[in-house]
Amino acid sequence: MPTDHPRIRTTEEYQYAYRRSVENPEQYWADVAEPFTWRRKWDNVLTADLVEGHNKWFEGAKLNITENCLDRHLSTRGNKLALIWEPNDPKTRQIRYTYRELHQEVCKFANVLHNNGVEKGDRVCLYMPMIPQLAIATLACARIGAVHSVIFAGFSANAIADRVNDAQATVVITADGLERGAKQIPVKRVVDEALEHCPSVRGVIVVEHLGWPVHMKDGRDVWYHDEVQEVEKTCPAEEMDAEDMLFILYTSGSTGKPKGVVHTTAGYMVWADYTFRNVFQVEENDVYWCSADIGWVTGHTYLLYGPLLSGATTLMFEGVPTYPSPGRYWEVIDKHGVNVFYTSPTAIRSLMAHDINHVLAYSLDSLRVLGSVGEPINEEAWHWYHTHIGKGRCPIVDTWWQTETGGIMISAMANITPSVPARAGLPLPGVQPVLLNQEGQEVEGNDVEGYLAIKAPWPGIIRTTYGDHERAKQTYFGVYPGYYFTGDGARREPDGLYRIQGRVDDVINVSGHRFGTAEIENAINQNNTVVESAVVGYPHDVKGQGIYAYVICRDGACDDEISRKHVEASIIETIVAEIGRIAKPDKIQFVEGLPKTRSGKIMRRILRKVAEGDTSNLGDTTTLLDPEIVEKIVEGRK
Ligand code: WT7
Repeated sequence: MPTDHPRIRTTEEYQYAYRRSVENPEQYWADVAEPFTWRRKWDNVLTADLVEGHNKWFEGAKLNITENCLDRHLSTRGNKLALIWEPNDPKTRQIRYTYRELHQEVCKFANVLHNNGVEKGDRVCLYMPMIPQLAIATLACARIGAVHSVIFAGFSANAIADRVNDAQATVVITADGLERGAKQIPVKRVVDEALEHCPSVRGVIVVEHLGWPVHMKDGRDVWYHDEVQEVEKTCPAEEMDAEDMLFILYTSGSTGKPKGVVHTTAGYMVWADYTFRNVFQVEENDVYWCSADIGWVTGHTYLLYGPLLSGATTLMFEGVPTYPSPGRYWEVIDKHGVNVFYTSPTAIRSLMAHDINHVLAYSLDSLRVLGSVGEPINEEAWHWYHTHIGKGRCPIVDTWWQTETGGIMISAMANITPSVPARAGLPLPGVQPVLLNQEGQEVEGNDVEGYLAIKAPWPGIIRTTYGDHERAKQTYFGVYPGYYFTGDGARREPDGLYRIQGRVDDVINVSGHRFGTAEIENAINQNNTVVESAVVGYPHDVKGQGIYAYVICRDGACDDEISRKHVEASIIETIVAEIGRIAKPDKIQFVEGLPKTRSGKIMRRILRKVAEGDTSNLGDTTTLLDPEIVEKIVEGRK
């Protein structure tokens, strides 16, 4: 990148930056924030509160993030490509936008939102295929100060309704249809179904993508292509406070319904740009590709905001890694000359399983840096990625972070800090990780493990959970007061690098996507033949973790194979309706009872071991209400 934002280039610079960020965080982040476009600078760099969870960055500053993503680049990068779009079907047309063109498209969409009554502070939900208009509409919300809440277009109508109602959204943006690989989803129809239960929604803006017929509700639904006819090509950016809400993104926790993680404007902007720039080390003429969907936080920070803030060229892909063949990713890399590629361990594992000739058919010469995100990358996948995709010459940045952290926290910085298989690596400047024991005390030294927590706020820290700060406080700040609690377990290896071991709470990470066990159980329990259920994660070759459900049926309802098959199908149907296809259990085992303590608590430890197939040592079962149930469960294991 040109000189506008300095970047860390060497190990010594990293060490120096890290030290400054810990010793004098306010000065460090003030320096980092300086080169952005501000309408007004801040009064305070940081107000820290890791007990109540009221953390604020750059208070008093005024800005608009889209001025930083777009307007700021027009004089130097107006004709540079900002966004390349690669369609699901490789035979159809790709689309490219320069920074100037993207700026104009965002302004036009912003004007359409205005004309449809969207005002600063309003919440807008987006349920869309991975098409340029999703990126454009998201930025258009930010342009006029509306809060975007993107819902991954794989969630069900009920899941949409929950999110729309929680956010009290007034407008929804969608499309006629979606194609992902060979799958088709009538997204507008799913939205229509959801909105029957969403009284807050006044308008729906529909983007025509596939030309599918859809029902347009009078007085509520409008076509984007009609609305855009008569709007101006420019739109002044709304002046936002540093701590004004930028977006809500729903994510699963260990209890109850998914919660709306809230990120605000200035801190998120600084963190997205800083982490993108330093971790990936993208150069001015590079093509950068993050394969995540904008419906997840990775797509927000590293497909959209991070690259555009840095003035990079970002590639957006509509499809899936295996369509029309398992060589598709590699074909896209050669076709567009991708230099930096960021994907998930699940995608890598699913491609490893195919004939290596799908890889060998492509040169992959352009690649310089590879990234991984979403779950621990196992050594086998790391080596395959490193050898066959990176040809041994590209560092892998294994980036650990969460929806709540806004951006990358622990990771190698490409060619600067160590990249070692199965280690996320060192914390980025500004990140102070600690490992806590059961009592909440910090475990010192190396070659130790514990609960991963962070002991000082960083600019991208979650600000609240929408509409319910108490929940944020309890989940993240109340567990070990004074620390941000991640929910992950980790090891600090003898070399001081961090190894992430996975969730220590009741969250399952399936293909890099989070589900709460309680959330899936609630869905299963909606089924009226089900008395009770317990869901756990278990190791899965491709998905990282699979979903294993133990189900107790009403008396007699599941006694024979045919009725079991029937109930199983109907359980799956309920989960698909309540959450979406992505939360389908891999295994369902019907059981007579669940291992419970005398106080009625389900012993998930035992259920996890059985699901894993590790039944030789189930630990002490004598404290159980009914110890015999365990043997029966082991016998019936799937
Ligand atoms: C959880 C966060 C971060 C964006 C995508 C997922 C796991 C994430 C890694 C990694 C090991 C990882 C953690 C974390 N995770 N990245 N590089 N190594 N585990 O975001 O849905 O908020 O999930 O994903 O368990 O807590 P998310």
